[in-house]
Amino acid sequence: MSGQTSGDATPRPRLTASRFKIMSPVGFTLFTGRVLWRYFVTGREIAGPGDNATFFHDATMDRGYPLLRPYQVLTRARWRRVARRNALIGVPAALLGMEALADIVEAPYHLFDAVPPTWTGVPWFDLLQGYAGAGTMAAGVIVVPKVKAAYDIRKPAREFIYPSVQVATKILGVPYRKREALRMLDLPKGWGEGGEEIPIDATMPRLFLPAVPLDASTKKRIVANVGARLGIPNPEGDWQEVGGRAHVTFRAFPLPPVKLDAAKVVPAIEAADVTHPVVGFAQGHMPVALDYEEESPHLLVSGGSGTGKSSLVRVVLSKRMSKGNGLIVLDFKRMSHPWAQGLSRDRALYFYKIPEIHDALVMLDQELTYRMHGPAELLGTHRPVDVLVEELNSLTAMLRDYWRERRAEIKRENAAAIKDDPYADVTEPPMLSPAVRTIALLVNLGRQVSMFVHVAGQRVSANALGANGGDIRENFQSRMIAKWTRKTWAMLTDVPYVVCPSGPRGIWALVQGDRVSIVRVPYLSDEEARTLALSGPDPAEPILSSVHGHARTIDGETVQADRLAGQRGQLVSLSRAADTLDLTLEALRIASKRDDAFPIRVEEGGPGKPNLYDLAALIEWREARYGRLELGPGGGS
Ligand SMILES: Nc1ncnc2c1ncn2[C@@H]1O[C@H](COP(=O)(O)OP(=O)(O)OP(=O)(O)O)[C@@H](O)[C@H]1O
Ligand SMILES: [Mg+2]
Repeated sequence: MSGQTSGDATPRPRLTASRFKIMSPVGFTLFTGRVLWRYFVTGREIAGPGDNATFFHDATMDRGYPLLRPYQVLTRARWRRVARRNALIGVPAALLGMEALADIVEAPYHLFDAVPPTWTGVPWFDLLQGYAGAGTMAAGVIVVPKVKAAYDIRKPAREFIYPSVQVATKILGVPYRKREALRMLDLPKGWGEGGEEIPIDATMPRLFLPAVPLDASTKKRIVANVGARLGIPNPEGDWQEVGGRAHVTFRAFPLPPVKLDAAKVVPAIEAADVTHPVVGFAQGHMPVALDYEEESPHLLVSGGSGTGKSSLVRVVLSKRMSKGNGLIVLDFKRMSHPWAQGLSRDRALYFYKIPEIHDALVMLDQELTYRMHGPAELLGTHRPVDVLVEELNSLTAMLRDYWRERRAEIKRENAAAIKDDPYADVTEPPMLSPAVRTIALLVNLGRQVSMFVHVAGQRVSANALGANGGDIRENFQSRMIAKWTRKTWAMLTDVPYVVCPSGPRGIWALVQGDRVSIVRVPYLSDEEARTLALSGPDPAEPILSSVHGHARTIDGETVQADRLAGQRGQLVSLSRAADTLDLTLEALRIASKRDDAFPIRVEEGGPGKPNLYDLAALIEWREARYGRLELGPGGGS
């Protein structure tokens, strides 16, 4: 110890523990007194070096904090410390002490029936209780928002901050400390949540680094790696150094316009062709189109409730309808696409009841078979049909439930039929809902038969189509995603994460193969969509080509369907067909030579081989001549 001089020029020497003989009662009392004095009154350090904070002013120098402190944390003015200690400990202790003291002082007065001094009558303990109650409430007001803030930061911390800081500290070769991480990365509020209030480019993340030397390549690696964790495509950073410590602010990346200009939107939509409909606009109002030819014949649209899924498909499908595509909407919510309701039946068919949707899908299965099995030269010439499946996940669940009941019913009917006639021709209904199977089939084939599936759902999961559906993602190479999180992004794509920008509704990521575009989707009103849809020429053919005069009634409306889909494309000889047609072979042979309406053979027989005919064509001819046949469920061959 040195400098124990006193005087105005030199600072007052600080008392230290060694000046007191703690083991002596006087020394101990003095020491304790000094500790209490500093603790409750001056707020100075009881031990340790202390800093240059004063009673009323915050410190201006950061003392002794370790390397990793990302920015200076200075001690606050001491009055705060003192106030806190007195509020938490000083006041309650004083009140409790007064209560105890009053008890002690009162005792002798009571003994002699004298009146104790008035202060002993103060209800110290009640005061303490009141103080505790008020204090708890005040603490709640102060603490609850803090707890909430800490709670709110948990998710962004887990998703962005910890991984970012982890990779940065690894590159720098300094230890990673989770507690420090929260202070090292400034993340704009709502980062990656796609909120609608804050425009994303208002602020960008900023990373504070510890004071270690940085060269250009380290900086580059940090920007690239941290940027990837933050979901910033092609990240770039602006570096700055303050007092030996560097921080980097990420630069805003290309974002779609906040608002679309109708004068640019309409011409772009109109100019697009049917296989490349414009779906949105990227930065600088650049139109971005889907690609039904090279990329994917099917489109998957995934977004939470109310994110604009239906509005998005409306833009694409009304455009495609204007170019002659037929549309089939399967929408159990019924009102997702008013623009497509009440159109002529050669433009759009709209189904919303589950049994109807089931039947419609069975019908689509027939159409699919018809197109697949028809003459090869017709492949690719069929009228393109867009099938829209709204809420795929829920719909498949409902279709499965419906089929479970239907199936039980069919089995009961079968059992009854067999009871009547042991040789009754009954077939066991399949386990898998034929409707769900058809969606999976369409998604697997599609392109060859000119049928294009669009599914919209809240989280279109891989198993929506069941075990036989295959990996649904594989078959949808074009995906559009709204309001995604890191998790849904990983679930729906195989490409590196891109953060979901905030901003007004209508921002979508279009993922085609391994390319990502962030676009703003234009919003068409029902009127506009309908006008666009009807702007093309009148359709020349029905939506489903498997129409041969047979009709099917669904919900009171007549829908054309192919009763003979099972037979269409089946090549048979006349002798094989005779039974089914309920005619003799001789009669068939004569008709084939004399009847002009007799179907043309599909394959010529040659020596020892019979000519082959399309069974469906034979049935149609037969029915036109001799009346309708009762065909069994298996196709009756
Ligand atoms: N591209 C867009 N631009 C601006 N607003 C939009 C856009 N898309 C949707 N909206 C707004 O969001 C609302 C809901 O859109 P939409 O019904 O298409 O969402 P959804 O995802 O299909 O909802 P749901 O889950 O109820 O089916 C629309 O009425 C519209 O106000
Ligand atoms: Mg919808």
